[in-house]
Amino acid sequence: MIYEHIRTETDGRVARITLDRPEAMNALSVALMEEVGQALALFGADDGVGAVIITGNEKAFAAGADIKDMARLDYTAAMTRDFPFNAGGWEALNRFRKPVIAAVSGVCLGGGCELAMACDLIIAADNARFGQPEVKLGIMPGAGGTQRLVRAIGKAKAMELCLTGRMMDAGEAERAGLVAFVTPLDSLQERALETARTIAGHSLPSTMMIKESVNQAFESPLSSGLVFERRLFQGTFATADQAEGMAAFVEKRRPDFSHR
Ligand code: HXC
Repeated sequence: MIYEHIRTETDGRVARITLDRPEAMNALSVALMEEVGQALALFGADDGVGAVIITGNEKAFAAGADIKDMARLDYTAAMTRDFPFNAGGWEALNRFRKPVIAAVSGVCLGGGCELAMACDLIIAADNARFGQPEVKLGIMPGAGGTQRLVRAIGKAKAMELCLTGRMMDAGEAERAGLVAFVTPLDSLQERALETARTIAGHSLPSTMMIKESVNQAFESPLSSGLVFERRLFQGTFATADQAEGMAAFVEKRRPDFSHR
């Protein structure tokens, strides 16, 4: 597949999508997000892929939706086209069932922060800066910023960030619970790959069920979430990987998962 605004590659069971509009700080144009959707569709259908990394470049994960595109939008166009969800990548990511890691360096703003938060976990380089600066443009977050940020870091801090539009650095983001861990910039890709390899090396049915169950925590009261989790847990006993994982433990060897 030839892309114009992203690059993709696979390394064993790990796939990587690199946002590639450096001249615009990886601003998320509709065309770029279409390509993200196409790449996710391919990786989702590929049995050889167990985890995906989405990353940018050293200066920018993504500086938000493309302001030059948006400057031409009016309400009718935004509403009737359902902007930004007219670009397939947003819903594709929301629906994507395999684990996705955002490996973030540089600015991660607006739609960029929303894209990172739509991933399952964020690993940040020490130069990463996060924010929802839409308020400074006379708009507001529109792809999950006001919803996922408050769930990630709580109301007070989410309100403060969305209402002031200020950026927070990687250390503050880690303390606030937005990112899983911070690593020096020069080790970001290696640490993300290492984490993705660990995840992709586990049983795919198992990691998919864990992802679905953790996400369910945001959707349901505790009592139904616990039932949801228990049913998925019980379902793991129908997989070949459960038998292999437990046999390997008993036999003191590494499991050889078939992802079935
Ligand atoms: C389009 C962008 C862009 C963006 C940067 N650029 N951000 N183009 N959309 N979001 C372009 C600049 O116009 C410039 O192009 C080039 O990238 C380099 O940017 P500079 O501003 O010159 O770089 P710098 O001084 O280092 O500042 C970096 C920055 C700043 C802090 C990231 O560019 C900035 O504040 N960008 C906007 C961030 C923002 O407001 N994001 C939220 C967008 S709204 P030229 O051609 O001039 O060299 C949003 C809504 C989401 O995301 C809704 C749902 C998806």
